[in-house]
Amino acid sequence: MVTLNINGRDLQVDADPSTPILWALRDNLNMTGTKFGCGAALCGACTVHLDGNPIRSCVTPISSVQGQKITTIEAMENDKVGKAVQDAWVKHDVPQCGYCQSGQVMSAAALLRTNKRPSDADIDNAMSGNICRCGTYQRIRAAIKDAAKTLA
Ligand code: FES
Ligand code: FES
Repeated sequence: MVTLNINGRDLQVDADPSTPILWALRDNLNMTGTKFGCGAALCGACTVHLDGNPIRSCVTPISSVQGQKITTIEAMENDKVGKAVQDAWVKHDVPQCGYCQSGQVMSAAALLRTNKRPSDADIDNAMSGNICRCGTYQRIRAAIKDAAKTLA
């Protein structure tokens, strides 16, 4: 058993310590908002926060994060910054197929928590690890700027 603190709760996970967080979330805890894309830290679909910082859950073993706070997309609606991001996503109709969007929202929320007025370059830098096959990048940028205004 491995204890993980997820969205403010200590949860027991019956999995090998080498299991990536992504699969502990999806297979053991039935939290399927975090998506599998590449499994190799290349696409960002699996992004969660570890102590507030965005990480790739597909390559981060659960043994390495005990005692740290994991936050997932499921907690964003109850988070001031996360909610502002999600509302802006809806307003700007950002998703196309939607597959990458949980990871996009997590990276955007992490950015806005540390940078209240991100420039285009800041946004490009923070979001460069999140790939969108549907090419929603322009709407993502607009939504991040809108969320920043809401939070100001
Ligand atoms: S699934 Fe983790 S970065 Fe692609
Ligand atoms: S919305 Fe389809 S991959 Fe991003």
